[in-house]
Amino acid sequence: MAAYAARLDRPTYLREGSMSLQWREQLSIGNDLIDSDHKYLIEIINEAEDSLRRNNRSELMAALDNLSQYAKVHFAREEKVASAVGFEHVSHLHESHEALLMTLNEVKQEIGEKWTAASAEHITALLRFWLIDHVIKEDMQIKPKTKKHSPSFVPS
Ligand SMILES: [Fe+2]
Repeated sequence: MAAYAARLDRPTYLREGSMSLQWREQLSIGNDLIDSDHKYLIEIINEAEDSLRRNNRSELMAALDNLSQYAKVHFAREEKVASAVGFEHVSHLHESHEALLMTLNEVKQEIGEKWTAASAEHITALLRFWLIDHVIKEDMQIKPKTKKHSPSFVPS
């Protein structure tokens, strides 16, 4: 958590004040399955942020539970696609996914422990960073491999 928090000062990719996150073509990693997962993850994060803005803790927790569950499904699918297209670093990708799930659990724990305007803002920033870091830093590395296949490629 501390490492993530410290890196929040970095330029962010989709952070536009209080605007919701929007998926953009430049976030495409060249596979429809993965892109559509990322779009859905963005949707869930937007729901979580909306709950934060309305100060609705139970809705926020429900959105974060949904995020944890869907992220697990997505990460497994992504590792399968990455492996099927010949990505060389699937085990590293898996480790990184495990770390992201741990961070998400820490965020949920933080919400359980304290609930202030400052922590709400912190959680919003963390969620955005959590996703953007995943897509930009990790998944983009798979793109050179997915580009050798059709965007509609589905692993068998
Ligand atoms: Fe992903």
